[in-house]
Amino acid sequence: MKMDGKTVLITGSTDGVGRYVAAKLAAAGAKVLIHGRDKVRANSLAGEIRRQGHAEPTFYPADLSSLAGTRQLAEAVLADHGRIDVFISNAGIGSRTLGAERRTSADGHELRFAVNYLSGFLLAYLLLPLLKAAAPSRIVNVASLGQHPIDFDDVMITRGYNGGRAYSQSKLSQIMFTIDLANELKGAGVTVNSLHPATYMNTTMVREGGITPISTVEQGGEAILHLAAGDDVAGRSGLFFNGMYEAQANPQAYDVTARKKLRTLSLELTGLA
Ligand SMILES: NC(=O)c1ccc[n+]([C@@H]2O[C@H](COP(=O)([O-])OP(=O)(O)OC[C@H]3O[C@@H](n4cnc5c(N)ncnc54)[C@H](OP(=O)(O)O)[C@@H]3O)[C@@H](O)[C@H]2O)c1
Repeated sequence: MKMDGKTVLITGSTDGVGRYVAAKLAAAGAKVLIHGRDKVRANSLAGEIRRQGHAEPTFYPADLSSLAGTRQLAEAVLADHGRIDVFISNAGIGSRTLGAERRTSADGHELRFAVNYLSGFLLAYLLLPLLKAAAPSRIVNVASLGQHPIDFDDVMITRGYNGGRAYSQSKLSQIMFTIDLANELKGAGVTVNSLHPATYMNTTMVREGGITPISTVEQGGEAILHLAAGDDVAGRSGLFFNGMYEAQANPQAYDVTARKKLRTLSLELTGLA
C-alpha cells in the first residue's frame, strides 16, 4: 500500500511504539494525525517529523479514559477530514500503570477495559464513515499476547482484581471486537486486524511496570506497519497476528456467543446501542 496522500490516525502516538509508527508513516508520505494527552511530547514528535522534511502531523489531544473525551476526539477528526485510510487503535495503559489497585474511568468502568478497549470500540464506530469513504481502508487494533477470558458476570473485575488480568481482559476484548467488526464490514472495503506487536518493548508502559525490556520499539513498530500498509495483508480481515505472523488468539475470541455478549455490552456502555 502506498502511503503518499493517505490519511492515518494513530492513537497513543505521543510515546512508545505509536510514536515510532507515526514517524515512519510521515516519512512514507502519509498525512499523520497524532493523538495522546501530552502536548509537550506531541510537539516534540511534530518537530522531529518537520525537521526531517516531512509533512507536519496534526495533534488531536484527548483523554480516552472518558467516553466524552473519546467522542470529542472523533468529532474533531470528523470536522477536519473527509477520509481516513488507516486507523491504528494503539493507545493503552499497562498492567501496572498508576499502581496495582483497581481504578475506574470517568464513566465508572474498570480503567484498563475503558482505555484499552472501550475507547477504541467507540472510535472505530464513530470514524467508520471516514474509513468507508477511503475504502479500501484499514483498522489495526494493537492488542497483545496477554489475553484473559472475560467473566461476563464481573466484566469490571470488582472481585479478585489484579492489573495483569485487567490488562489481558482488555486486550482479548480488542481481539474479539476485531473479529466481530471484520464480519460486520465484509464487502465494505474496510479491513480490521489485531496484533501483538512484540514482547516487552522498551516503552514507558513496560519500564513503569518494573519489567526489563526484551524487544525494541522498532520490532513492534514494524509489525504494526505491516498490518497498516503491507501489500500481503490487503483485503485480509478479522485476523490476529503475533508480530509479523498470523496466530491464534485465546479460545474465547472464537466463541460466537461470547463475542455477541461483548458487542451487546459495549454498545450499551458506549451509548451506541
Ligand atoms: N510495550 C509492549 O511491550 C507491548 C506489548 C504488547 C502490546 N502493547 C500495546 O502497544 C500499545 C502501545 O504501548 P506502548 O508500550 O507504546 O505504551 P506507552 O509507551 O506507554 O505509550 C502509550 C500511549 O498511549 C497514550 N495513552 C495512555 N493513556 C491514555 C489516555 N487515558 N488517553 C489518551 N491516550 C493515552 C499515551 O499518551 P500520553 O502519554 O500523551 O497520554 C501514549 O502515547 C498499547 O496498546 C499496548 O497495550 C505493548
